[in-house]
Amino acid sequence: MVVRGAPAIAIAAALSLAVEVFNFHGFDGSASDAVAFLENKLDYLVSSRPTAVNLADAALKLKHVIAKALATATEAKSIFKAYIEASEDMLEDDVVSNKAIGNFGLSLLRQQAKNPDKLSVLTHCNTGSLATAGYGTALGVIRALHTQGILERAYCTETRPFNQGSRLTAFELVHEKIPATLIADSAAAALMKDGRVDGVIVGADRVASNGDTANKIGTYSLALCAKHHGIPFYVAAPLTSVDLSLSSGKEIVIEERSPKELMHTHGGLGERIAAPGISVWNPAFDMTPAELIAGIITEKGVITKNGNDTFDISSFAKKITGNSSR
Ligand code: MRU
Repeated sequence: MVVRGAPAIAIAAALSLAVEVFNFHGFDGSASDAVAFLENKLDYLVSSRPTAVNLADAALKLKHVIAKALATATEAKSIFKAYIEASEDMLEDDVVSNKAIGNFGLSLLRQQAKNPDKLSVLTHCNTGSLATAGYGTALGVIRALHTQGILERAYCTETRPFNQGSRLTAFELVHEKIPATLIADSAAAALMKDGRVDGVIVGADRVASNGDTANKIGTYSLALCAKHHGIPFYVAAPLTSVDLSLSSGKEIVIEERSPKELMHTHGGLGERIAAPGISVWNPAFDMTPAELIAGIITEKGVITKNGNDTFDISSFAKKITGNSSR
């Protein structure tokens, strides 16, 4: 619970293992031993994050790299070198992706806003530089709107119970001098009713191939509120957040976190406030059905809906890459 945000967690995991093997001068195993060592470590890291797919996706890609390196490697050193280079590339690729998401999101929001020269958006949880390798996904779109001078105000939720919104997103918005207002999660419906937001934009932890999206707990409530108030609700996420192996969000495993996050202040670290003896349900994520999502903004463009109110992300990926895998 120190590094937060699905893409940042994936990159931090990949790079921390790179640091470990960079300093591994004493490794006396073979090239196959090096592959086995890295695979075990990657499997262990992946087990920490059941809902978000980015870490599992990064581990799979890194496993392919080292398996390929094994075909020609004569010693462990070459496997570690291939691993380190691939994990460093992931860091760079994520920033490039996020900037592209920012630009696609900027055009989409402008097209769909009532007043394309002045708009306010609401976001949830943390999706900025502190949640990714840099720039951000949903916060990257907000950054792009601000840079173009068309952002009137960004509203961010505090994101109970761990407060990634008030601790991280609010910090970044202030740091970047972006006009921003923090709200309680429970104030979102009133904010929308007041007509203060033109769009809601969030990140994603895992997007199924029909567009159903798992994201931080509270996202589903925001999507329902947005639908009621006729406000477009967008997901901004790199294709590394898409899991084409899942046909719908029903298959997404929702991680539950410590009851302490609800029972104590400061996301579980502070003073106890809940009555002793109360039981707690603390899902860290929820699943927003595709029917509530107006568009999914990726680094390759905006995925729009087909006739039956869902997204066909496999076809989108096929068009982009020439095959249906991420
Ligand atoms: O505590 P976390 O890491 O689970 O909180 C971060 C989120 O849930 C983000 O909304 C999500 O990972 C989207 S990342 C751009």
